[in-house]
Amino acid sequence: MFGKKNDKDQTTAPEDSEAAARPGSTGLSGDTKIKDWLAHPQGGPVLRAMLAEAGSDESQLKPVRGFAMKRLIPMSKGQFTDEAIAQLVVKAEAYDPASAPADPARASAPEGAGEDEEIELPEFVESITEGRFAAKTVIVTGAGSGIGRATASRIAREGGRVIAVDIKEPGLEELVAENPGADIVKVVANVTEQDDVDAIVAAAGDRIDGLANVAGIMDNMTPLHEVSDEVWDRVMAVNATGLFKLSRAVIPAMLDAHAGSIVNITSEAGLRGSAAGLAYTASKHAVVGITKSSAFMYGPQGIRVNAVAPGPVITGIEASFDSELGGRRIRTAMGAMPTPVGPESLAASITFLLSDDGHNVNGAILPSDGGWSAV
Ligand SMILES: NC(=O)c1ccc[n+]([C@@H]2O[C@H](COP(=O)([O-])OP(=O)(O)OC[C@H]3O[C@@H](n4cnc5c(N)ncnc54)[C@H](O)[C@@H]3O)[C@@H](O)[C@H]2O)c1
Repeated sequence: MFGKKNDKDQTTAPEDSEAAARPGSTGLSGDTKIKDWLAHPQGGPVLRAMLAEAGSDESQLKPVRGFAMKRLIPMSKGQFTDEAIAQLVVKAEAYDPASAPADPARASAPEGAGEDEEIELPEFVESITEGRFAAKTVIVTGAGSGIGRATASRIAREGGRVIAVDIKEPGLEELVAENPGADIVKVVANVTEQDDVDAIVAAAGDRIDGLANVAGIMDNMTPLHEVSDEVWDRVMAVNATGLFKLSRAVIPAMLDAHAGSIVNITSEAGLRGSAAGLAYTASKHAVVGITKSSAFMYGPQGIRVNAVAPGPVITGIEASFDSELGGRRIRTAMGAMPTPVGPESLAASITFLLSDDGHNVNGAILPSDGGWSAV
């Protein structure tokens, strides 16, 4: 979907104020919203041309139309870069709408045609609470990407020591590089393996104040009779068994301290049957059961266990539609799905429950989904 990274041509995307000040400037920059790029007489055609070159089109950008262009960089897994934005800015400045052929996408799709009414809501901006996690050690799994990475980053920026766990190392390295001076211990580990779980707990040390079980994988949207053993085993292993094993391993330290907060990530698929295939739905319902049982068991000893159920979030998670029946049924039910949010919106909900701000909340399943579960 995105242009290729070009390390040789090291230009960087201008900020809004810089862009506006340059002669011939279009005012477009990495800070400009994608929908404003698309609506711009010079920016729109060059952006559409870039998408077409990559075999894509602007419909791919629908969920992120309200995002600033530069927010695509961390979501693109290295395919879209700061330099690519800078090149788009230069191309837009050089583009002459008068001499160029009509932009076919604009010509066939007049302003507003075929689109739902679009009310512009402000983008969520994190408000950091200095020192909220000071002197606390929090383990975050899935910390190399998406919701886990945003959660780890927020805890680190709020003064916590983060044990950042992921099966893949590159995302953990980026997390550390993005937070210079932060107290982040990276642990490359597979949460389904007991030896790796032991290594995570050893890296944390005697004191573990919090655990965010975020690592998870999707299924392939298959209904019961089409679920392969492989999909069932893999999805249950990561989403339910891994979460169970790591939680079991941290409980002794929390019992010793008579304190601790665990936040498990479930899903809309943990609340109902229409958001994914059978394996993912079963695994996320298991997360709800683990959360409620543990909250009940350990509440009197100072340990809180809650879950967050995200709606659609723009992350690196991948799902396939391998079943005609599953695809048809799930796509129908997704009609009421709200606009996806960035992972920092979920980090806000997760860190609330992890922190002392959530001290009176135990056993809750908190939908963080823009109201999707209320439909
Ligand atoms: N993105 C969404 O729309 C959405 C919606 C509902 C629930 N969720 C849940 O949120 C959680 C985070 O997902 P995301 O969207 O940020 O996905 P993501 O793919 O961006 O991040 C998940 C991370 O978990 C890691 N991981 C996977 N298996 C692992 C293992 N065995 N051990 C250690 N790390 C492992 C991956 O390497 C990846 O970095 C998941 O539990 C997912 O089910 C996501």
